Order: sequence, then structure tokens, then C-alpha cells
Amino acid sequence: MRKLTMMTAAAALMAASTAVKAEDVEVLHWWTSGGEAAALNVLKQDLEGQGIGWQDMPVAGGGGSQAMTVLRARVTSGNPPTAVQMLGFDILDWANEGALADLNIQAGLEGWDDVVPEALQQFAKHDGKWVSAPVNVHSTNWVWANKAVLDELGIAVPTTWDEFVAALEKVKASGKTAIAHGGQPWQDATVFDAVAMSTGGPDFYKKAFIDLDEETLGSDTMKETFDRMAVIRSYVDDNFSGRDWNLATAMVINGDAAFQMMGDWAKGEFLNAGKQPDADFLCFRFPGTQDQVTFNADQFAMFAQGSEVGKEQAALATAILSPSFQSAFNVVKGSVPARTDVSNEAFDACGKKGMADLKKAADSGNLYGSMAHGHANPAAVKNAMYDVITAHFNGEYDSATAVDELVTAVQINK
Ligand code: BGC
Repeated sequence: MRKLTMMTAAAALMAASTAVKAEDVEVLHWWTSGGEAAALNVLKQDLEGQGIGWQDMPVAGGGGSQAMTVLRARVTSGNPPTAVQMLGFDILDWANEGALADLNIQAGLEGWDDVVPEALQQFAKHDGKWVSAPVNVHSTNWVWANKAVLDELGIAVPTTWDEFVAALEKVKASGKTAIAHGGQPWQDATVFDAVAMSTGGPDFYKKAFIDLDEETLGSDTMKETFDRMAVIRSYVDDNFSGRDWNLATAMVINGDAAFQMMGDWAKGEFLNAGKQPDADFLCFRFPGTQDQVTFNADQFAMFAQGSEVGKEQAALATAILSPSFQSAFNVVKGSVPARTDVSNEAFDACGKKGMADLKKAADSGNLYGSMAHGHANPAAVKNAMYDVITAHFNGEYDSATAVDELVTAVQINK
């Protein structure tokens, strides 16, 4: 893993030595799957239409940990990219270092304060200044299912943990894979987000992952969460280790597996494969989290190139926040708009549900930042949690040990 990260960083530094023309933007991101690339094209084309060239700096790896390693190397070598895809606490960390350009002029002219949800502004603003442009809102507590497989086995959409386990058992008995999963720390953590919310409810989730309350982290409910992760583990196939998330989605698309627990970027893969919600695939909230949303929002932070924001950076920020782009991009990406005033007309059934769920969760105090995707706590804590969740998922710890390790990991890293 470490070797791979270093090679990626070295390759990135070499690529960066290619000069970026003044009228270009160089964009570092981790949107490398088919569905993600299709969405990225919407942004590329928008900018190209304005005469701004695009220098692509993709760094594969869902959740963006590898991209953040490459970014650090680029900044350290004095050559930051123009714009960087970033999540939650990473944005605030870079803003604290004074590395990000001030977007207040664009935000003021375009009224971002009035249309971007408060939950996103918490990560897009620093010391009263806008430091990033929100692209979307994703959420992690979704399940994606192959409709034909469920129909064939007579499985209704499960609404409780027990119903979900019964459905998994039925799929397993049929010889198909019940859960398509990729054993990578960020994917294990994505599943954990939903399982923890379902097991303990919103107060438990908030106390454990946002407040980092020691008693909650060490509680019996946390042990039960890990016990349920072990149940999930018993329904993945033998080859899950290291599999990329989009290959796991492909297993559901192809009917080799029934379910995937993944953020709504998975929908981009279904659409990219020509599949339709309700006809070919189903989207539903992880059983027991129907009223909650664990969200993450992709934003583009602009690295300061001088005392003022660059012309191309300003154009990129303006393009990202435009209502038409927010609709066009998010329809393809699987996410929902980062503005509250965008119509849901162009969105499919899952997108419409995503938009309605988000609004309902925000209005009822049920919207929480995703731990797995950098919106609950800073990277150091998140990564320490990843380690424990993955070690447990791979059978290195029993649930009681995992709870103790989680408490210790948070104590050391918070
Ligand atoms: C990002 C998504 C991306 C996913 C998988 C998440 O952290 O928010 O935009 O599609 O990772 O790469």
C-alpha cells in the first residue's frame, strides 16, 4: 500500500513538470470510474466552452486518500494544482494552512450564501471566507440492488436489519453473491457508516463519530455494530479483498450479486451501463436508516496562486455553482445538487428520492456528516478509524477488541 502511494506521488510529480498554460486549469481529482468520468466530462466541456483548457490530474482511489497524498507532495514541492477535489475536513485543514484562494467575490456576486445548504457551508467557508466551490451532495447510507435477482428470489426491499439478513441468506442459498463488496479501508468504512447509524441511531452516530465521545465509542452498541459488520462479512464473496468499488457495482449490474452498500456514486455506474432505476436496479436506504442521511459533498478548492484568485479559477468556481451545471452534472454523477434552488425535474427516481431525503433529513435534524468520507472528523481520526474497522472486517480482531482499539485510536489521534 505504502509503496503504491509513493509511486503514485512520484508519477504525479513527473506529470506536474509539464507546464500548465495560463488559460488552463489543472484539476486534481479521483473520479476515474466510468460513471465518474462521464460526470467529469460535463464539467470539462462546460469550461472548454468558455475557452479554458483542462489539464487532467486523476489519482485513482475512492474516498480520495491517495489523491490527498499526491496533493501534499505537490504542495510540498511548491507546485500545487489549480483546483482540487476535496471533502469536508480536508478543506478546513488546507484553509487553516492558508493555502486556499478566497472565493468571496464570486460567492457574493452569485449569492452562494442564500442557496448552498448550511451543512455544506460549514466545510466551504473558513473564517467567514468561501474557500471552496461545492459540486454536489452524496450520501453513504444507500443500498443498490439488482431487481431481476430480487424478483427471481421473491425478495422484497428489506426495511429492518432482520429482514436484510433474511434477504442475504436467501441470496446466499441461491448460489449468488449476496453482497458485492471491495475490501479496501474506505469501502469497509462506507459500510460501517450505515451499519452504525442503523444499529445505534442518530444520537449514537453523532456522539461516536462527530463528538468523539469516549463512552459512546466504547459502548455495547458499538460492539453490536462490529458484530453486525461480521455478519455482513459472512455474505461477501471470497475475492472481495482489494476489489475496486466500481467492480463491485458491476457485480450487481451483471446480476452476479444482489446488493451493494455504497454511496450514490454507484448510481453513476448503473447509468453508465445503460441501466434504469426501478426497471433494472433499486435504490433504498440501508435498513433502519430510512429517516437519516449520512452525507458527503465534493467540493473544489482552488490553491492560491498569488494574492488574488486566478481568472480561470474564478471561472471554474462560477461554472460549478451555476444551477444548470448543478443539474446536468449531478444527474450523471448520482449525487444531488449543492444548491437548494435546483429543480428535480431532470433527475431519475433515485435522484428525486435523494433530493427529498436530503431536505427531510436537514429539516428534521437527521443529516450527519459521513465518517467514511471525511465529514465527521479530521483525516487523522478518520484514518485511525479506518484501520480498526478494516482489521476487524478481515478477522484480525473480535468485536470486543475492535471496540477497545477504536477508543484507543481516537484517544491518540484526536
Ligand atoms: C466522492 C465521490 C466519489 C467516490 C468514489 C467519494 O469520496 O465523494 O465523488 O465518486 O468517493 O470514488
